[in-house]
Amino acid sequence: MISFRINDKTIQFKDDPATPLLWVLRDHFQLTGTKFGCGIGECGACTVHINGKAQSSCITPVSSVSGKSIVTIEGLAPGENQLHPVQQAWLDEDVPQCGYCQSGQIMATVDFLRRHPQPSDKDIDDNMTNLCRCGTYVRIRKAIHRAARLSRDA
Ligand code: FES
Ligand code: FES
Repeated sequence: MISFRINDKTIQFKDDPATPLLWVLRDHFQLTGTKFGCGIGECGACTVHINGKAQSSCITPVSSVSGKSIVTIEGLAPGENQLHPVQQAWLDEDVPQCGYCQSGQIMATVDFLRRHPQPSDKDIDDNMTNLCRCGTYVRIRKAIHRAARLSRDA
């Protein structure tokens, strides 16, 4: 049995320890905000935080998160009526088109802003590697700058 935390709840997983974390989240715990895109760690649609670091859940066997803390898009907001600054910035800038990649983009951005609280455009372009088939990159960049401002003003 593998024990770990998802969005501040301790859970036990008893199935195959080689199961990718993505499918544990989606199929066993109905946390379907985390998406499947490529399945090979390239697109970022499946990005979650593992002990605070953005990682691709599609290539992460659940056995490797034993004792660790996972945060998904469902657990990002600090309260029921309060969005995370990155979520707020995404709404303010009307970022999503189809929306499929966006939870991964947001999770990647939260980790990115922890490491680059005042990012330049180059920092964003060099570090934000999540793919968006709808090409929302210009709005993503604007939203990252807005989120950085919101976080500084909070
Ligand atoms: S689905 Fe995991 S990186 Fe693409
Ligand atoms: S908004 Fe459609 S894939 Fe990014």
